[in-house]
Amino acid sequence: ESERTLAIIKPDGVSGNHTNSIKETILNNGFKITEESFIQLDEDRVKSFYAEHSSRSFFPSLVQYMISGPMLIMVLEKGNAIADWRALIGPTDPLKAKVTHPHSVRAICGLDLQKNCVHGSDSPQSAAREISFFFERTSSGHVSKHD
Ligand code: CMP
Repeated sequence: ESERTLAIIKPDGVSGNHTNSIKETILNNGFKITEESFIQLDEDRVKSFYAEHSSRSFFPSLVQYMISGPMLIMVLEKGNAIADWRALIGPTDPLKAKVTHPHSVRAICGLDLQKNCVHGSDSPQSAAREISFFFERTSSGHVSKHD
């Protein structure tokens, strides 16, 4: 049965020109990209998206990074999409990923623990929340809230 997850190519991934190769990796691994949109978030939207991290010491820096440039948000669809996309992107820290998961997206494209190039929903609950954070359901599917 098909499942949906939210993928983000973060500002460092877009400015580092990794967008096309990451999309190729996504399609080569059997995902359909059913929605996509380039967006740039403001501070309030990022704080709301990452609300669960608001008490962490890295939060202010994370917010500045996430508003620093455009990002590509995508809805990916396939069986087991949530776990499969998380497996493809690898561990949170690209420097660790380079050692343990050298073929992962973060190992190849990520810069450091914060500028880690991509995001993936971590559970069915967060996938549902994150997809509806960026896209709204219409009679013909989904449309970006940002276009
Ligand atoms: P992600 O897992 O997509 O969502 C939370 C983000 O916070 C994470 O990617 C990193 O970009 C960032 N992050 C997580 N842990 C740290 C940390 N210890 N220091 C700095 N940034 C972090």
